Amino acid sequence: MTILVTGGAGFIGSNFVLDWLGKSDEPVINLDKLTYAGNMENLVTLQDNPLHQFVRGDIGDALLVSELMALHRPRAVINFAAESHVDRSIHGPGEFIQTNIMGTFHLLESAREFWLASSGLEQANFRFLHVSTDEVYGTLEALEPAFTETNRYQPNSPYSASKASSDHLVRAYHHTYGMPVLTTNCSNNYGPFQFPEKLVPLVIHNALAGKPLPIYGDGLQVRDWLYVSDHCEAICRVLEAGRLGETYNIGGWNEKTNIDVVIQLCAILDELKPRADGSAYKDLISFVTDRPGHDRRYAIDASKIGNELGWKPAETFETGIRKTVQWYLDNQAWVSHITDGSYRNWVEMHYS
Ligand code: NAD
Ligand code: TYD
Repeated sequence: MTILVTGGAGFIGSNFVLDWLGKSDEPVINLDKLTYAGNMENLVTLQDNPLHQFVRGDIGDALLVSELMALHRPRAVINFAAESHVDRSIHGPGEFIQTNIMGTFHLLESAREFWLASSGLEQANFRFLHVSTDEVYGTLEALEPAFTETNRYQPNSPYSASKASSDHLVRAYHHTYGMPVLTTNCSNNYGPFQFPEKLVPLVIHNALAGKPLPIYGDGLQVRDWLYVSDHCEAICRVLEAGRLGETYNIGGWNEKTNIDVVIQLCAILDELKPRADGSAYKDLISFVTDRPGHDRRYAIDASKIGNELGWKPAETFETGIRKTVQWYLDNQAWVSHITDGSYRNWVEMHYS
C-alpha cells in the first residue's frame, strides 16, 4: 500500500511525512510544487529512504497527478498543498484562488477518475483526506462558544475564503459522486519547520536577531494553538477511522492572546538563550498597524474527534512551545538558509 501526500515539503506536510515514516513502512509519494514555502531541507533525513518518493509538481496538473495515481495506486490522498499565509493572501489573492480552489478541484477530479476506475477492496478502502483550517468559520466574540463542525462558514480573508471554497468542493464530491472524502479543520499549528513568516517562528527569529517583535493592533486577538505532531496524529486517526463525508475539528483546547504567546516565547528565550546585555527579550515587542480584516478570535471545540476517534493532544502549550523554541535554537542553520535564500539552491540544482 502507498499514500499520496500533497504539500509534503511545507511545514505540516513535512512533519506528517516524517512522523508517518517514523512509525510505518508504508511508502509515501510526496507531491509538492516547491513554492517559496516548500523546503527540501525539511526532508533531508529521508534522502536515502526508499519509502519516500518526492515528485515536484502542481496538484492542479491533472495529467501528472493521474499518471502518479495510475502508477502508484495510493490507498489515500492527503491534501496539505495550499497557499497558507493570511498576510500574503491580502497582498496577492490570485495564487490562493489558483492553488486552494482550482488546484483542489483538479486534484479531486484526478482522484475521482482513479477511484471510479478501481474496483473491489481497492475502491472500497480509498480515501481522500482534505486538510483545512478553523479560519473558514470566521471570527468569534469573546464569550461565544468555540467552533463546532456545524458552525456556519463565514470566511473573512482571501485565504480563509479560498480554503472554505475547497472544503465545499470536497463536500460536494461526497454528496454528488459518493467519493470517500474526509475533511479536517484545525487551529493554529506551531513546531519544527514552520516558515518564519508565521507568528511563532517569526518572533523567535527576530528576538534572536535583536529585531522588533511586531504585534498587530492591540495583540489581544485570540487563537487556539496546537503542536504540529498532535495535528499529524489526529489526521492519522481520521484517516484510519473517520466516517466518510464527515468533517472533524482539531484543536488544542488552548486559547491564547497573541501578546501572551509572544511574552511566553520571550520568557523561554530569556531562560534558554539570555541576551548578551542582560535585557529581556520582551523589551523588543513593538505594536504595529493591525492586519486588515483581522479576525478577533478563533476557538475549536474538538469534542467530536475526541468522542468518536479517541484523539486528544499529547502536548500542552507549555511543553510544545518549549520544544519548539529549543528546536529553533538547535536548528539556526535551517532558519538562516531560509533568510539568505540558500534553501532554494536545492531546487535550482535539481530543477534548473
Ligand atoms: P505551508 O505554506 O508551510 O506549506 C504548503 C506546501 O504546499 C508547500 O510545501 C508548497 O510548496 C506546497 N504547494 C503550494 N502550492 C502547491 C501546488 N499548487 N501544488 C503542490 N504543492 C503546492 O503550509 P502549512 O502551514 O504546512 O499548511 C498545510 C495545510 O494545512 C494547508 O492546507 C493549510 O491551509 C492547512 N492548515 C494550516 C494551519 C497552520 O497553522 N499552519 C492550520 C490549519 C490548517
Ligand atoms: P499567523 O501566524 O500569521 O497565523 P494566522 O493569521 O493564520 O492565525 O498569525 C497568528 C496571529 O498573530 C494572528 O492573529 C496575526 C498575529 N501576528 C502578529 O501579531 N504579528 C506578526 O508579525 C504575525 C506574522 C502575526
